Amino acid sequence: MFTSSFCNYNELLFNGNCITCHSVDNLNKSAPTIQEVKQRYIEAFPLKKDFVEYMSNWVLKPDANTSLMMDAIEKYELMPELAFDKRTLKEISEFIYENDFK
Ligand code: HEC
Repeated sequence: MFTSSFCNYNELLFNGNCITCHSVDNLNKSAPTIQEVKQRYIEAFPLKKDFVEYMSNWVLKPDANTSLMMDAIEKYELMPELAFDKRTLKEISEFIYENDFK
């Protein structure tokens, strides 16, 4: 469905901007792992379109009122707002939806 260059670009965006906090192994324990985040979002939004829309909007403006992970906010505090545009966040969200993080 996507060309490999598209995936590699989105992977770079994710690895450059999210993995510092959302590592796969959770060694620094400052945020839930990306697998935990993805799991929660897939349960709520099985369809890619909904998943990408909700996640990109949420990351654009983190808000406890619309969080799917209140338990994580209690444990780690609310995620800080990052200076990304919506389009970039949609691309990152697509990568998260597509990737297994094994
Ligand atoms: C400075 C650390 C940090 C960075 C960088 C970061 N996050 Fe987070 N993120 C957190 C923390 C802490 C939480 C858990 C608390 C919460 O949900 O607000 C979180 C939670 C989330 C959630 C769950 C939101 C919810 O509560 O429903 C999503 C989705 C998410 N992050 C996506 C991303 C994406 C995508 C990126 C990269 C663009 C990213 N994060 C970068 C710290 C970070």
